[in-house]
Order: sequence, then structure tokens, then C-alpha cells
Amino acid sequence: MRAVDPVDDGQAVDGPIRLDLDFVQDPHTALELMRAEGPVRQAIMPRGLRVWLVTGYSDARSLLADPRLSKDYRSAGTLFDKHVTATGGASSGFTQSLAAHMLNSDPPDHTRLRKLVNKAFTARTIARLRPRIEEITAGLLDDMSGTVDLLETFAFPLPITVICELLGIPDDDKEDFRRWSGTLVSASPAEDVERASGEMSSYLLSLVEAKRAAPGDDLLSSLVHVSDEGDQLSEVELVSMIFLLLVAGHETTVNLIGNGVLALLRHPDQLAALRADPSLVPNAVEEFLRYEGPVNIATLRFTAEPLPVGDVTIPEGEFVMISLLAANRDSTRFAEPDRFDVRRPAGGHLAFGHGIHFCVGAPLARLEADIAVRRLLERFADLRLAAEPESLRWRDSTLMRGLETLPVRVG
Ligand code: HEM
Repeated sequence: MRAVDPVDDGQAVDGPIRLDLDFVQDPHTALELMRAEGPVRQAIMPRGLRVWLVTGYSDARSLLADPRLSKDYRSAGTLFDKHVTATGGASSGFTQSLAAHMLNSDPPDHTRLRKLVNKAFTARTIARLRPRIEEITAGLLDDMSGTVDLLETFAFPLPITVICELLGIPDDDKEDFRRWSGTLVSASPAEDVERASGEMSSYLLSLVEAKRAAPGDDLLSSLVHVSDEGDQLSEVELVSMIFLLLVAGHETTVNLIGNGVLALLRHPDQLAALRADPSLVPNAVEEFLRYEGPVNIATLRFTAEPLPVGDVTIPEGEFVMISLLAANRDSTRFAEPDRFDVRRPAGGHLAFGHGIHFCVGAPLARLEADIAVRRLLERFADLRLAAEPESLRWRDSTLMRGLETLPVRVG
């Protein structure tokens, strides 16, 4: 198969597999083949990063919570240069001014950073946003008619507006953000990534200055306050934290909604079941996450010591990529994993990760998706795809799994 040709460098058949960008158009088939071969496999990612790829559910779950795997950005940045095989291709994404966040940290830094925002994202706090999310959703639905790109008109503006309001980011700046964060999560050339990170970090610094001068009733202002107060949050950690929350808020929930609606439109029986019984929506959202989660294959860690996985021992200082997409389609954990079933008992999927880095934004993402899908189906009784399913293309990103566009007819 084209997407998983063994590397043509004279290595044995079980040497690294080179994943080209076509891989993202049909990752499930390739990942299933790899899972059948064994629990872990060396792979070369599209822009040249050499990793060990884990594809089975139970290994993925335990490795996500294994302290022998580190995420510390300082060491990861150095290792990156060592493990990139292509020249001029990959960029580490470890731009130091944006990298000092919890998702790139181990305890005790991780514990300290996460504690600062945990309270703002608990299910209880997030539930208070419901009326405002309903209002934004209704406004977006009001503006939709005829044939539209569901991502552009609905799935994208909803989470962006919510995260920007929560953080206190001015409305006018959303377009810049979208451009920068799109560049950072796609397979963009290294120089584009460098430029986008540079622009984003100077923008965030000026935003911090603005909040310092005129604090508002928002999360960003309270983080600026914490940072100014003492030794809990340095300036570079503050900017990195806002960066992480913004990118996570921008690039994930859009695809939860988009991939979920696509799955429904491709499975009319499931769509009918959901329309007939909207109390199934929360369960359906969990099935969206399992069946076609928004995070592609990339959740990156590196070995802080030699690490046995099955009968392979991964040496120290190697990157390990845990494929959530593959784990969620593992037949040893999910019966008939390729079947999309909104009534499937929820729970157990790894779309939000597992362990200490389990997604902070999960309650927010779940609430947004619940409201979005519920209201979309209510409003448009005749919602349908406005393109041949085969013509839809997935974005060239190994990090995020989402469509380039999702044309639908709303009535
Ligand atoms: C972490 C997925 C939405 C903020 C993670 C991780 C995953 C994930 C898989 C862990 C990655 C790893 O362990 O390597 C998702 C999905 C989302 C979503 C599928 C939407 C459907 C959000 C939103 C926010 C957010 C809306 C913020 C508002 C974060 C943060 C972390 C994180 C801050 C780092 C947690 C830590 O390191 O302790 N997310 N996410 N996510 N997510 Fe999300």
C-alpha cells in the first residue's frame, strides 16, 4: 500500500515505515495493518521525524500514563534535531517562547501549571457557559441557508468565539489567530511555522501588556495577575499557556463537530435514530470521539529511560507517538470498531488522552458539541451532504484530523 511503503533504504522489512501525507486520507486501514503486526513499530513521519508508533489500545492507555515517558519541551527540542531524517522539512514546533506549557511539561512543573487553570474548566464551571453557547449557536444557525461549508459557517466559529470570550481575546483578532494556528498544526514548511510562531508570540505578549494595563473579567486577566503576584507563573509560561488554550480551543472542537456530522450524514440510520431520540446526543458525541476523533495520530512523548513494549525495548531518548485514532479502533477493546453506532455504550475511548495530561478542555468540548449537534439537527430537518463523500479531503496534518471543507445543504 502506498501510504505505508517500507523505507527504501536497504533496511529489513521490519525497519521503519515511511508515512507519506496521503496517509491522512485513509489512516485507519494503514493503522490497522500496523496494529496487526505488533504493538509498536518504527515509523518516519511525513516531515521526517523518526518515531516509535504505538497502535494498540491497552499499550496506548498504559503508555499515556507512564512516567518513563516524558514530555519536557527542553529535552524534546534537542532530541528533535537528532531524530529528523529529512533536511529542511520538519520543524520541532518547540519554539521556546510558546513551548513552556503544561502539555510539554512533566511534574512538578506540569502539576503547578495545570492547577492554575483546572478550576476554570471543571464541568460545573463550564456548565455556566451553556446559555451563552446556546446564544452563539442560534446566531450562527440563523445565518445559514442553501449550500454552505459547515466548518466555515458553524463548526469553526462556535468554539473559537467561546474560547476567545473565555480568555478575553478581542473579537477582531480571531482571523489572525486562525491563520497562525492553522499553520502550526498543518504540515507547513519550517520557515512558515517559524514565522507564524514569531507573530503569534509577539501578539500574545502585547495582549498580556494590554490586560496588565486594563484587566477584564476573563481568564487571561486572572492569569496575568497570578504571574505578576509571584513565583507561580513566569512570563514565558503565561504566554505559552494562553497559546496552548487558544490552539486547543481552535483546532479540536471544530473537528469533533465536523467529523461527527460527517459520520451522521454518511450513516442515515444513525442520523434517524438520533433525530428520533435526542436524549442519545451525549452518547453520540462519545461515539464521534471514538469513531473519528479530532486528534490524528500524534501525541508525542520521549523515553526518559529504556522502555519495554511487548517484546521490543525502546532505547532512552527516542520519540514515542501514541495513536489515539488507532487505539479507538482496536477490536480487542471495541466490538466491530469500524461500525459507527450512536447507541454504543460510551466510555473507554482515548480521544481526550489519559493520565495526567488528560484534556483539560474535555467538559467544554463535550458541551459545545452537544449543543451544536442538537440544535443543528433541530433547525434543519433536511440536512444533507452537498458533495460526493469520496470528493471530501482531509487536512494535511498528522496532528489534527479534520476535513478541509464539509459542504452541506441545510434546506
Ligand atoms: C490535552 C484532545 C479540546 C485544552 C489534550 C490531550 C488530548 C486532547 C488527546 C492530551 C494529549 C497528550 O496526552 O499527548 C482534545 C480533543 C478536544 C479537545 C479531542 C475536542 C474535542 C480542548 C479544548 C481545550 C483543550 C476546547 C481548551 C479550552 C487542552 C489542554 C491540554 C489538553 C490545556 C493539556 C493538558 C495537560 O497537559 O495536562 N487534549 N482536546 N482541549 N487539551 Fe484538549
